[in-house]
Amino acid sequence: MSLGVEPSTSTGLVDTFGRVHSDLRISLTDRCSLRCTYCMPEQGNVWLTRSSIMSADEIEHVARVAADLGVTSFRLTGGEPLLRVDLAEIVRRVAGLTSGGSPVEVTLTTNGIGLAARLDELVAAGLSRVNISIDTTRQDRFLSLTKRDRLPDVLEGIRAAADSPLRPLKLNAVAMRGVNDDELVDLVDLAVAHDAEMRFIEQMPLDAGHVWDRSTMLTRDEILAVLGERWSLTPVPGRGDAPAERFELDAGPHTVGVIASVTAPFCATCNRLRLTADGQLRNCLFATDELDVLRALRDESLTVADRDAAVETVLRGSVGAKKAGHAIGDPLFLQPVRGMNAIGG
Ligand code: 5AD
Ligand code: SF4
Repeated sequence: MSLGVEPSTSTGLVDTFGRVHSDLRISLTDRCSLRCTYCMPEQGNVWLTRSSIMSADEIEHVARVAADLGVTSFRLTGGEPLLRVDLAEIVRRVAGLTSGGSPVEVTLTTNGIGLAARLDELVAAGLSRVNISIDTTRQDRFLSLTKRDRLPDVLEGIRAAADSPLRPLKLNAVAMRGVNDDELVDLVDLAVAHDAEMRFIEQMPLDAGHVWDRSTMLTRDEILAVLGERWSLTPVPGRGDAPAERFELDAGPHTVGVIASVTAPFCATCNRLRLTADGQLRNCLFATDELDVLRALRDESLTVADRDAAVETVLRGSVGAKKAGHAIGDPLFLQPVRGMNAIGG
């Protein structure tokens, strides 16, 4: 029997509940071309300073360490990631990474504005898929919901994505009572016409204005009841750790998804971590603590190997401190200070 020291086996990012973290969402900026009411206020936003925003180099560095620890999927978000002029460069660098010997997947969540002009470049850089947010198909409503008159630009982005090789294409809408609840069928029709999957998200208390109210949230059951009047909905098996419950519309092949973050939370299978644009690691959308990765990345007294080790320590520390769930229903629930635009969806 050997009395030697056990070789250190590098394990993945496993939390105290056994959840294995394989998905990192990286916010590239807190700025946005829209002002969706549920996400950020129209005025009075305090933006991250330019010098605090991670460079393409720094993003690649964190992503490389994360990939070495078993992260296989990277989602680039915002604010609006298309506002980064170096977006294709970031995609190219992250898409060039491997995890466990296989290429990682890089996806983009965007409002679609300006996507058409940059899609070829993003596909060439290695982008795998795109999710486009659209909450309404009516121009007047779009203006009151986003404070910008840019529905045609979003629709152009959706058309361009539909014409691209990126699949599956997903469209996201936050479902809100008295705002777009009479458009659920129209939104699904729009998605189907673009060979995309419409996904309805329950509104979460993540608005920077802190005005979320449970009564204006449309619930999963209400969404399914409305859709069920038009289509027969057959659950798609094999959800795995995906946030969306998916249903076939009539006999398929088209599908719709519902993300019931509030009434049917999927925290028990959560495999996600989030990195803010200013290099802070969050283990939950609703986390009230963050761990600083940027400081380690910018510490010039460290060697590259030391920096890798420091980033790994932060990743492991964040995962190790992850709570079981978000407890939105708890009377003591505390909304995070950052709005969604500064966390990343
Ligand atoms: N609740 C639910 N979804 C939200 N999103 C932004 N804010 C909220 C919120 N408060 C969604 C956007 C987009 C994705 C990035 O997150 O609609 O689809
Ligand atoms: Fe911008 Fe997306 Fe927030 Fe809307 S939800 S303001 S598109 S970051």
